[in-house]
Amino acid sequence: MSNAAYDAVCTHPIPPRMRNGTEVPFIGPNFEAYKKAHAETVGPNADQWWAQMARELLHWDRPFQTIRSGSFKTGDIAWFPEGYINASYNCVDRWAFEDPNKTAIIYEADEPGNHKYISYGELLREVSRVANVLKRFGVTKGDTVSVYMPMTWQAVAAFLACARIGAVHSAVFPGFSSEALRDRINDCRSRVVLTADEGRRGGKAIALKALADKALEGCPHVEHVLVLKHTGSENVGWVAGRDKWWHEESAKVPNYCPPELLNSEDGLFILYTSGSTGKPKGIMHTIGGYLLGAALSVKYVFDVHPDDRFGCMADLGWITGHTYLVYGPLALGVATTVFESTPTYPTPARFWETVDRHRLTHFHTAPTAVRLLRRLGESHVQNADLSSLRVIGSVGEPINPEAWHWLNDHVGRRQAAIVDTFFQTETGSIVVSPLPGAIECKPGSATVPFLGHEYALLDPVTGKELEGSGVEGVLVFKNTWPSIARTVWQDHNRWLDVYLRPYPGYFYTGDGAVRDKDGYIWIKGRVDDVINISGHRLSTAEIESALILYDGVAEAAVIGANDELTGQAVHAFVTLKREFKYDPTDEPALAKELVLQVRKVIGPFASPKKIYITPDLPKTRSGKIMRRIMRKIIAGEGDQLGDLSTLAEPGVVDVIKAKVAASA
Ligand code: WT7
Repeated sequence: MSNAAYDAVCTHPIPPRMRNGTEVPFIGPNFEAYKKAHAETVGPNADQWWAQMARELLHWDRPFQTIRSGSFKTGDIAWFPEGYINASYNCVDRWAFEDPNKTAIIYEADEPGNHKYISYGELLREVSRVANVLKRFGVTKGDTVSVYMPMTWQAVAAFLACARIGAVHSAVFPGFSSEALRDRINDCRSRVVLTADEGRRGGKAIALKALADKALEGCPHVEHVLVLKHTGSENVGWVAGRDKWWHEESAKVPNYCPPELLNSEDGLFILYTSGSTGKPKGIMHTIGGYLLGAALSVKYVFDVHPDDRFGCMADLGWITGHTYLVYGPLALGVATTVFESTPTYPTPARFWETVDRHRLTHFHTAPTAVRLLRRLGESHVQNADLSSLRVIGSVGEPINPEAWHWLNDHVGRRQAAIVDTFFQTETGSIVVSPLPGAIECKPGSATVPFLGHEYALLDPVTGKELEGSGVEGVLVFKNTWPSIARTVWQDHNRWLDVYLRPYPGYFYTGDGAVRDKDGYIWIKGRVDDVINISGHRLSTAEIESALILYDGVAEAAVIGANDELTGQAVHAFVTLKREFKYDPTDEPALAKELVLQVRKVIGPFASPKKIYITPDLPKTRSGKIMRRIMRKIIAGEGDQLGDLSTLAEPGVVDVIKAKVAASA
């Protein structure tokens, strides 16, 4: 879309369940209400508002006096510095004391029917036991603990057990390879690793302990490995002295562990993000500020009320799992869902059956899953009762309008709100998103800054703030907020270099964005995915959106490749819907049609130079398309692809290489 075209997109009214549903939205009923609320949370009163929220939403063991200190300029951010606060107490004890029988976790096991509800009382006992076990292992405040666990409710307990005693957890997504795990354990020098015999996903077992054992061959500092017996596999390797069963150790310790007195700025967790270059960065979050951002955004972005049942489908190994599965919902004392399976196991109706079974009020997933399900038709979503849903969330990448509409029509059935939520590992919690009772949505736009946040779009070259509407620039944030990360683990200089030095005084997201005439923000994707054709700036996401509008297209990935004539040229990789019929011997005809499609939706200058029809795209296990790989293959550097261990299906790389070679 040209910048002007964003202005033409229709808004969707606030949906019925946000106007006259069972709960009155916290912020509504319209844009004016949002504007008023937002204005009170930035500017001269901002600190007072943050302080009020911190006192209202969290329990402090010792009150803070200072609200905010430090700045992006000086890279010394701190919030509530005299305050003492325990995240585990906030997420578990207060609710367990109030009502020990209230459901804390809805565990939806891989096999349908094997679900289990874990109460706050039970969670407090499990968290306490694991915390006591960690203490017996000699873990104390400030130590790191690596968590390589499947999607089980005990993994949530593991996070909270670390938080309880002031240990810094470092979760590693269970889809990561041994080598990736080894590097992440070593980088933060964990002496203790928590894992399970096996994970289970889509009916298949994942040999987590075996993968961990392989990794640990290269981790000389690790002294203790606590192993959850999850599948009960007979085939578990054992290193005597180092390895201990979770249930055996837990049986030795009391069911209660007092929470440690911790400073608001003590570390809560590290989470590694793979930057575009170099080794992964251990992004570091601290307790008080992070927890406030998590609780506040769940409350207002998802409009969560005390009896809600929140369902975030993300894996615990990603920031979305940390903030929107564990800390946010539990800090508010609501039920949260641990979903162990896949969207299509045993059938594509799995998500909808889960929502129906547990009467989930909130369903939060990624566009990649929506596109996958959309490609499988509508019949799978039609039989479930989805009337409990009030808010549906999307996160992780720009959502194609087609996917947005599919969610709205078939999942929300035009009754529920859709929130396209933008955030990053670094921002800790959502920074741009609609508020469901106040903001009319435009499909594909993450809409407006969250309460307490002030953004700017900068000219990437001059670094000057762009004013007015119809402008496009790099997205930055102006003032610190509580849940912004504090540093890169053991590498503060890298933190400054990547995020705070590019535009002094601002936090640099690395994303480009447009502001339309209504002040709505359209995230265009990473600035490194922006391509320039004959001086025309295009986002790869935009061309992908155009391609996906084509009836038979399921997914598309676009990259910019160097071109003698135009600077860069568009290369598009496309997968087709399963039911789409075409003659595979006549791919050129289909490719031509797809080029026409892009010309039609965006304009002739955006025409792909090459279209590759492939059975799949290289993706990380979290579903992010790895354009880097296609870029390298196109650039003739297919032999220098580096570490492919994070790919869901490494085999797809060879298929793509062959395709590209054949079309050269
Ligand atoms: C990057 C952060 C935080 C979600 C999990 C990924 C992209 C995230 C959106 C959205 C457009 C989005 C950005 C961002 N992104 N949400 N709603 N619309 N883009 O976390 O791995 O730290 O990735 O994901 O490019 O910079 P992450």
